[in-house]
Amino acid sequence: MFHNIEYRKTFWSPFVTEHTNVPSVLLEENKRLSESALWRMQREYFDKESINAWVNQVPFYITSNPFIAYCYAQIVLNFILDWIQQHPEATQHPFYILEPGTGSGRFSFFVIKTLVELMESLNLTDIRICYVMSDVTRNNINYYEKHPALLPYIEKGLIDFAIYNMETDKPITLLRQHIHLDPKTLQNPLIVFANYIFDTISHDAFTVHDKKLYELLISLKTETSNLEGNRPVNLEKLETVYHIREIKPDYYPDPVLNKILAEYKAELHESSLLFPIGSFHAIKYLKKISNDKLFIISTDKGYSTVKSLDYHGHPSLSFHGSFSMMVNFHALADYFKNTGGDYFLQTSRKGIKTSVFCAGMNLTNLPRTALAIQQYVEGFSPSDYFTLHRRVSDSFNECDLDTIAAHMHLTRWDPHMYLKIKNRIISLVPEAEAETLEFIAACMPKLAAHFYHLPKTECVLFEIGVFYHAVKQYQDALVYYEQSIPYVGEQFSLRYNIALCQHQLEKNAEAMVNFKKALELNPESKEAEEWITYLEKQGKE
Ligand SMILES: C[S@@+](CC[C@H](N)C(=O)[O-])C[C@H]1O[C@@H](n2cnc3c(N)ncnc32)[C@H](O)[C@@H]1O
Repeated sequence: MFHNIEYRKTFWSPFVTEHTNVPSVLLEENKRLSESALWRMQREYFDKESINAWVNQVPFYITSNPFIAYCYAQIVLNFILDWIQQHPEATQHPFYILEPGTGSGRFSFFVIKTLVELMESLNLTDIRICYVMSDVTRNNINYYEKHPALLPYIEKGLIDFAIYNMETDKPITLLRQHIHLDPKTLQNPLIVFANYIFDTISHDAFTVHDKKLYELLISLKTETSNLEGNRPVNLEKLETVYHIREIKPDYYPDPVLNKILAEYKAELHESSLLFPIGSFHAIKYLKKISNDKLFIISTDKGYSTVKSLDYHGHPSLSFHGSFSMMVNFHALADYFKNTGGDYFLQTSRKGIKTSVFCAGMNLTNLPRTALAIQQYVEGFSPSDYFTLHRRVSDSFNECDLDTIAAHMHLTRWDPHMYLKIKNRIISLVPEAEAETLEFIAACMPKLAAHFYHLPKTECVLFEIGVFYHAVKQYQDALVYYEQSIPYVGEQFSLRYNIALCQHQLEKNAEAMVNFKKALELNPESKEAEEWITYLEKQGKE
């Protein structure tokens, strides 16, 4: 247990400072955490980096894989079916699904694709959905609007876009349809997917000590050398200092929030905790525009019980390009419960958690939804999936091809995972059982269908070509090598592989053209030269 004196001292210091000899500047002093400049700096970071934030900076695989998207699609489809059963007129209006803080757009692609497939397989032609990819920065939206994987859905009117800053109450305007998400448009409940976003927007912070409640006021410092035009360049070099101040019971204008704080004051023994005030702000606004009919699924790092909120030191910022803080899911759940809504918090897992919240409805009246939540949140969840993914990522070199194929099947044929383990797969092909190879070969189109290009990432289409090449399915290999050209560009290995396949398919004239292109791209290549000589000789015979 953590009840020792030393630990208490650590977070009961009224002013924590770190002394260094590096010249530094005080950026702000004793601010309420939610009013700190930190959050503006966070938005500026995402605006500046745009899609490059997801190139080895901000982690996103955990919330952007086909498995989590499948779980969300199943829950939402069941929610829509429950709703229509109770409100048959609901089919006359679209169901809007809003994704605030969309980020890379990869999750949106997986989820919309899965949802459309599920609806097609159940022949649900009378249900209309509109998926709204939104973000605080227009720069991200510029990327989604032109993305080849999203275009088919955009053209069918299944996707729209919106600039939405969750800290404000500005109207959410759909950029394609030119309408607002407001109480008139939202005739059906508004569905919201909030992944890795409640940890990114503003929080307040408090300390409970001897049954008294204090707010934590933040001061920010940084090295002088980290400033450019008075703004910090590297957020990781920000130094945070907390000061505490006792607060009154009516700290917030909203009595529901004060009630939750009072509960912490009464129940926590000794702790500092975060209060997701930016998330509350967004939830209240979304409740308002949706006629208090809101259905949220959220996956994030956080705490779900009072017990897990106890005995913590002052909150820290995790830096990864941007920064994030732990989400107090418990407070969010309490808020929904206290305002006539409902929630489901999954039993404790290490790592991320998936939570479901709803306003203006009760999960007990939504039986299909409740069952889907049992299966996809409380059952084998996105969090369990990630735990397994990490283990396999660390040990695939010890796995045989059957195990790898089974794991790929669990990932729902995820390109990110395939790119990690591709070399192991190809190395195992020569010794593999025919059934295993047939299974993988048959699933390769699923892998290709999950391709969502991001800058500076490898192209799975080329690697699918390599697999088919290795198992001697030359025609299939050619199809994928050619599809990869726009992404990998002209390269020796691409032209050389294409030529080898064409030769195997007895298309020697075409193979000759490609061996020559390969040689141009790498004039040093002895193999390409030998092939050209060989084919020339063959041509003369
Ligand atoms: C940590 S990323 C998460 C992206 C994505 N949801 C995921 O799971 O990978 C946070 C995203 O929220 C956006 N964002 C930051 N502050 C925001 C705000 N106040 N309102 C809406 N979006 C915000 C950022 O631009 C970024 O795309």
